[in-house]
Amino acid sequence: MVFAVLFSSLLLASYPVFTNAYPQRGACTRADWDALNQTVNGRLFAAVPLARSCFQASPLDGAYDAATCQEVQSDYLNPITRSGTFAGYMATQSETCSTTGAQCFLDWQNVTDTAAFDPPQSCQQGSISPHYIDVKTVSDVQAAFLFSNRTGVPLVIKNTGHDCKGRSSSPNSLGLWSHNLKSTSFSASFTPHGCSADTIFAAATIGAGVQTADLYAWANTQSITLPGGACSTVGIVGGYLQGGGHSWLSNIYGLAVDRVLEYEIVTPTGQHLFANACQNTDLFFALRGGGGGTFGFVLAATMKALPQVSYTTVEVDYTSNSTTLPIFISFLISNGVKWATDGWSGQIRPGAKLVMTAVNTTEDAATSYMSDLRTVAAQIGGTFTVSTTPSYLAYYDKYIVPDALNELDGIPQTVGSRLISADALSANPGELLNALVNITVNSAASFIFANAPFNFKQDASLGPPSVTPAWRNSVWHVIAGTGWTYNTPAASQSYLYNTITSSIEPLRAITPSGGAYQNEADLHEPNPSDAFWGENYARLAQIKHKYDPQHLLDCWNCVGWKGASDPLYSCYL
Ligand SMILES: Cc1cc2nc3c(=O)[nH]c(=O)nc-3n(C[C@H](O)[C@H](O)[C@H](O)COP(=O)(O)OP(=O)(O)OC[C@H]3O[C@@H](n4cnc5c(N)ncnc54)[C@H](O)[C@@H]3O)c2cc1C
Ligand SMILES: *[C@@H]1O[C@H](CO)[C@@H](O)[C@H](O)[C@H]1NC(C)=O
Ligand SMILES: *[C@@H]1O[C@H](CO)[C@@H](O)[C@H](O)[C@H]1NC(C)=O
Ligand SMILES: *[C@@H]1O[C@H](CO)[C@@H](O)[C@H](O)[C@H]1NC(C)=O
Ligand SMILES: *[C@@H]1O[C@H](CO)[C@@H](O)[C@H](O)[C@H]1NC(C)=O
Ligand SMILES: *[C@@H]1O[C@H](CO)[C@@H](O)[C@H](O)[C@H]1NC(C)=O
Ligand SMILES: *[C@@H]1O[C@H](CO)[C@@H](O)[C@H](O)[C@H]1NC(C)=O
Repeated sequence: MVFAVLFSSLLLASYPVFTNAYPQRGACTRADWDALNQTVNGRLFAAVPLARSCFQASPLDGAYDAATCQEVQSDYLNPITRSGTFAGYMATQSETCSTTGAQCFLDWQNVTDTAAFDPPQSCQQGSISPHYIDVKTVSDVQAAFLFSNRTGVPLVIKNTGHDCKGRSSSPNSLGLWSHNLKSTSFSASFTPHGCSADTIFAAATIGAGVQTADLYAWANTQSITLPGGACSTVGIVGGYLQGGGHSWLSNIYGLAVDRVLEYEIVTPTGQHLFANACQNTDLFFALRGGGGGTFGFVLAATMKALPQVSYTTVEVDYTSNSTTLPIFISFLISNGVKWATDGWSGQIRPGAKLVMTAVNTTEDAATSYMSDLRTVAAQIGGTFTVSTTPSYLAYYDKYIVPDALNELDGIPQTVGSRLISADALSANPGELLNALVNITVNSAASFIFANAPFNFKQDASLGPPSVTPAWRNSVWHVIAGTGWTYNTPAASQSYLYNTITSSIEPLRAITPSGGAYQNEADLHEPNPSDAFWGENYARLAQIKHKYDPQHLLDCWNCVGWKGASDPLYSCYL
């Protein structure tokens, strides 16, 4: 795996795992849990860490079992297994208590490495909720909010566990799992609740547990297009949609929040609501970018269904060196605004690959339009190809699925990012070049998502969403990422978090009134409220207070959060 090789250059020596307990929050009796279990029809479960069966030592229920352990090992990095298990997370620091080292990990670089699980290693619950509800009904969610309000046990909402900032796990919490809400339906004439009968959209209603690859396959059977993210197992309606949601084609189609028509939600006070442009409009605004895990539990969302079209895609592949990397990045900086304005959208790994796509064009016209790129590709020793795919699914299968960097599952990892304004490309090309070269060379993985919704025209009838307006004058979303070994000590993890923060600093400096994408942001983003929401933050904070007056939902850097010093965040570095 490419990422594994890149990571090995960052590897630190092996250290023992610490097993200190984390502070307890909330208290309730066995009888309270049993009563809750009855209310949710027996769908309250204990969450057992994935690798429990490999460990002989553990204070947790369960036992060592060699055969089960072998199955766990063979599936340890499988994103379908991980997202299909409540206790499984993609960025696996979500499973640990990072400050104490309490965890239950295999060595992801060598899953049979006995040093990870033989004594004295001990399997610990870490930040995984000890109990969770497999949510099926509105009343399941209402019961959980009442329980939390009464007992003080914190709640956490988990969908696929892809969150990069640990927002879908919390120690000693009750988990609400949306994974099994898998419904999909299409209507050629959908009218949002409370809108007049002549308000009609072609639209798909999607349950909160539906995952990207499943959605694309289903949309294809309906001959519609529902653009979504790159990773096959990210959820469509959970954190992705509520935080913004970009796709490789979001300069053409807008962010996911630009196409959502309605949310079905249970709020922390137990109200079951439909929020759209005609009713509960404040909540509709908040859910289109205010972030997951903040305003309530979303059961489903309805998205505009777009027609099936074909895509014309230009691809460049090369292997950079110290001469060619700055040549290529300079060329990207010179052309970034032009490409965005002319409707091109895609993803670039500056040291290796470019994929840019347009609709309503031909291969000949694309080749001619991109003739300068073809010349530069030859100069840097790369290949230049153009091809047509007949549908979004075909495009996804051809360009996105084969790229292993879209599926980094089962690895402790973090990212930092910045939205890069069109102005920054013309005003500060030198600083931008230096920063991008540095990020490309020195971080384990980096991307230029050339897909900000710069050219996309928002549907005024829906009202603006609540993501930072900085998305609209940006052309790029730049990300740098890193990861670490299963036994990297806390101090070294902190060092890596700081490294990511500083590598993004030059990009912040040249985009002073800009922002960042909350779902792929630095854990220690400076001024997070301003970066993620800009001028929308004050209104979001009011809406949070209105719908969650007892503050039953809280997450890291989320709207109205309690702050890093709250005991909820005692496991954060
Ligand atoms: C490998 C990888 C690739 C990615 N690719 C993309 C991409 O192409 N485009 C993009 O925009 N982002 C991408 N992301 C980021 C992604 O948007 C976030 O990780 C997002 O938080 C995932 O949402 P989730 O619901 O699947 O995950 P979870 O971790 O389960 O949840 C994330 C947050 O949403 C909340 N939440 C989940 N479900 C609900 C619900 N039903 N109601 C209320 N709150 C809920 C959780 O409490 C948590 O705060 C990627 C991430 C990874 C790790
Ligand atoms: C909840 O009840 C179901 C069905 O009786 C049972 O299988 C499950 O173990 C119970 N959960 C807990 C946490 O006790
Ligand atoms: C993985 O760990 C096992 C058991 O400790 C060891 O025998 C094997 O050599 C390791 N494999 C690699 C590739 O390091
Ligand atoms: C939560 O508890 C408080 C009292 O502690 C009560 O006033 C409030 O109505 C409760 N809210 C819900 C949703 O149960
Ligand atoms: C492509 O052309 C169709 C038909 O003319 C039009 O409806 C659509 O808006 C165009 N798409 C873009 C992104 O320009
Ligand atoms: C870098 O790559 C280019 C294109 O392949 C090649 O011409 C050049 O010699 C290489 N330079 C170095 C320093 O390796
Ligand atoms: C270059 O990147 C490294 C690591 O990614 C970072 O620590 C450093 O601060 C960056 N330097 C500059 C000048 O941005």
